[in-house]
Amino acid sequence: MKVGIDKLHFATSHLYVDMAELAVARQAEPDKYLIGIGQSKMAVIPPSQDAVTLAANAAAPMLTAEDIAAIDLVVVGTESGIDNSKASAIYVAELLGLNRRVRTIEMKEACYAATAGIQLAQDHIRIHPDKKALVIGSDVARYGLNTPGEPTQGGGAVAMLISADPQVLALGTTTSLLSADVMDFWRPLYHTEALVDGKYSSNIYIDYFQDVFKDYLKTTHTRPETMTALVFHLPYTKMGLKALRSALPLVDDDQQKRWLAHFEHARQLNRQVGNLYTGSLYLSLLSQLLTDPQLQPGDQLGLFSYGSGAEGEFYTGELQPDYQLGLDAGLPQRLARRRRVSVAEYETLFNQQLQWQAEDQVVSVADDPHRFVLTGQKAEQRQYLDREA
Ligand code: HMG
Repeated sequence: MKVGIDKLHFATSHLYVDMAELAVARQAEPDKYLIGIGQSKMAVIPPSQDAVTLAANAAAPMLTAEDIAAIDLVVVGTESGIDNSKASAIYVAELLGLNRRVRTIEMKEACYAATAGIQLAQDHIRIHPDKKALVIGSDVARYGLNTPGEPTQGGGAVAMLISADPQVLALGTTTSLLSADVMDFWRPLYHTEALVDGKYSSNIYIDYFQDVFKDYLKTTHTRPETMTALVFHLPYTKMGLKALRSALPLVDDDQQKRWLAHFEHARQLNRQVGNLYTGSLYLSLLSQLLTDPQLQPGDQLGLFSYGSGAEGEFYTGELQPDYQLGLDAGLPQRLARRRRVSVAEYETLFNQQLQWQAEDQVVSVADDPHRFVLTGQKAEQRQYLDREA
């Protein structure tokens, strides 16, 4: 039985900051951000969006009444959770009007958690092929103003429907995993921005990729050139390029050229959004599938998921005949329609996030065009609005 990704849909905010303008404001060469980091635009997440609203905005447009009736598992992978006890998946399931006979959980392991959700969902669907599972990676990536991590911020959510007989990608059942205690990036409960050892984290990322990729090839007796393209977690797009370059010695010159050409498609949309932590690998998958004219049904894609702390997984999927039907086809146009904000406006929005305090708070939602918005906090409870309710 084939099980895998049936649909993928993405949501981010309607605002972005231009990376060349940000570089000038930070006394950096624009090419450092544009080429050295590999980012052109960075999503600016306003206070009216959080991990819950981004997740609901990502999932709602792709779900049919039939999907909603069949979903009995919702996993939200996030490291931008809004509560230490209650799962964001419960808010998301309620906003989406899902069946109440549903298992709703939040998963955490930095940028890796959505992949854990997909593997859990895959196992679940193999036992219950008449059901569907909704897996969402949703985050707001924050390092702080004027920090080295700043040009690698961003935010958004990728929602994926996992089903039997999937339209997009049939997942392999063998994966390669690596997990060990590494302090490359973390966020203690009292911090709103991540702590990171940037260069160390980039080195660990490559080490993990090399380890799980080679382990996968060895344990599955797979030749690397049987993979049409490699898709990476992209904290910034140059990171994926560095990892890909580290794999090039394994294949001949022609395959190297093909992998490098495919990678340019895989990073096209991430280049315009920035890091979205748990969703980054899956935005790159969407980017690959939406923008790469060289892909064919039957192609094998290799996926590398990495979460600091650290956990890595390499797995593969086979592209299905009607894969285009399961994709968020309007995404490139939506990204092109976003409003550019100045560096000053981005800084103001960055500092206006809902405060971690007990007092009631009101968030202005007038400028936010999305269906699901965060309107504030009342009696220590976040207030969400569905504009179509
Ligand atoms: P930095 O120290 O400001 O940058 O921070 P740099 O000096 O290393 O320069 C970056 C690149 O720009 C270099 O290229 C320079 O040569 C180049 P590289 O040597 O790396 O190939 N450069 C230029 N290129 C063209 N023209 C120029 C120019 N000037 C310089 N004029 C760093 C960079 C990524 C470390 C920082 O932004 C950071 O700390 N980011 C956050 C951490 C991160 O993203 N780590 C990635 C791996 S960990 C991961 O993926 C997990 C994560 O997503 C979290 C999670 O799991 O939840 C982060």
